[in-house]
Amino acid sequence: PPISGRSVVVKEKEAIPKGSTGAKETISTDPPRGTRDFPPEDMRMRTWLFDNFREVSRLCAFEEVDFPVLESEELYTRKAGEEIVGQLYNFEDKGGRKVTLRPELTPSLARLVLQKGRAQSYPLKWFAIGQCWRYERMTRGRRREHYQWNMDIIGVPGVEAEAELLSAIVMFFTRLGITSKDVGIKVSNRKVLQAVLEKYGIQPDSFAAVCVIVDKLEKLKREEIVSELDKVGVPAEAIEGILQALTLQSFDDLEALLGADSGAVTELKQLFALAEGYGFQDWLHFDASVVRGLAYYTGTVFEGFAKNSQLRAICGGGRYDRLLSTYGGEDTPACGFGFGDAVIVELLKDKKLLPQFPHMVDDIVIALDDSLKVPAAGVAARLRNAGRVVELVIEKGRKMKWVFKQCDALKAKRLILLGTTEWEQGKVSVKDLSVREQTLKTVDELIAVS
Ligand code: HAM
Repeated sequence: PPISGRSVVVKEKEAIPKGSTGAKETISTDPPRGTRDFPPEDMRMRTWLFDNFREVSRLCAFEEVDFPVLESEELYTRKAGEEIVGQLYNFEDKGGRKVTLRPELTPSLARLVLQKGRAQSYPLKWFAIGQCWRYERMTRGRRREHYQWNMDIIGVPGVEAEAELLSAIVMFFTRLGITSKDVGIKVSNRKVLQAVLEKYGIQPDSFAAVCVIVDKLEKLKREEIVSELDKVGVPAEAIEGILQALTLQSFDDLEALLGADSGAVTELKQLFALAEGYGFQDWLHFDASVVRGLAYYTGTVFEGFAKNSQLRAICGGGRYDRLLSTYGGEDTPACGFGFGDAVIVELLKDKKLLPQFPHMVDDIVIALDDSLKVPAAGVAARLRNAGRVVELVIEKGRKMKWVFKQCDALKAKRLILLGTTEWEQGKVSVKDLSVREQTLKTVDELIAVS
């Protein structure tokens, strides 16, 4: 029986071989749960989205990089209790190596930076678009495979780097017609939590674990958070202090708690001042409850969210100055973000901002007689070499009714007909489909107009 959903029966056209039971095989036509096919219409949309990712990265002078989808498991087996580690698509390969489909791109990027070593001149400004795999519980815009656009800056310790990244994100939204009324970016800094932990004398080595727990504040009940914090050794009065700090919504409150000279306050203020310079300050919202669920962030953290919507985070990122040293390198200033391909599409649909992506051609070329198939191929080739998108009718015996339908479906600009009499005079019939006018032209004239 089919495993799920639609199924097809694979018909046996050949005579049933000897020894076969003759039973028809049935396969599910659905891709594995949580994954997607990209039929042409979806692929056109994906290409459009990725083109926008690429164009924004290019305008910001970032270089594109890529990594394998299959990575060593050890890149991800961090011990801070992150969700992502439990969601790995991991297995042993035939050589006994522990590998996994990558759940994110940042560890691969860090690996490549380490591998290239000091030969590179910093800062590195890299972007990547890659498929990531997480065995997730699925919700709208969240699946087991997604593509992520990442931009990362390696080698810049100051918040100027974060400001560049945030400006790229805002530029992307703006290109798509999204405004700061639709989307906001919540910003905080993990140094806020770090300062609170220090105040209570909590050891820095439990910092990552505390961040991962606190990130679940919206998902878990307060008692569950308290009990998890208790398990990693945070005393009761510190738990109160941490939870209190997370409710802060203004720099004044933050200053009152940490003092005006705290690193977190200074960095946040600098970042917001830079945002004003770029002109995107109205997109930013300071919100101390943003911590992010990945263990490696050390400073600024941020998260793009759709206003008045139940959608999950559109994008997220932050500073991770110590990730490279956890892989045996030196502490290296780094920050970046990941921007998924799923939530943004849901948002564009909700806002009716998703363009149409029709399959379009410039010319349709058809030989009216089979004996003209060879010259028709030549005409199509010359037009294509001149930069026109050409659909050459390659099937035999197509009726004109079908051809006109095809012209409509493909929104063709011209229909080019090769008939025996005209071709003998070195000409073809050209129907300009916008004005429905038909003329005779030589192939040179045909190319010249295009
Ligand atoms: P992340 O917050 O885990 O960060 O993911 C970044 C973005 O990827 C999310 O905001 C969302 O758009 C998308 N995403 C994640 N999981 C899924 C899913 N299951 N289905 C659909 N979309 C998803 C990171 O991955 C960091 N490595 C980002 C980063 C880069 N930090 C520094 N550099």
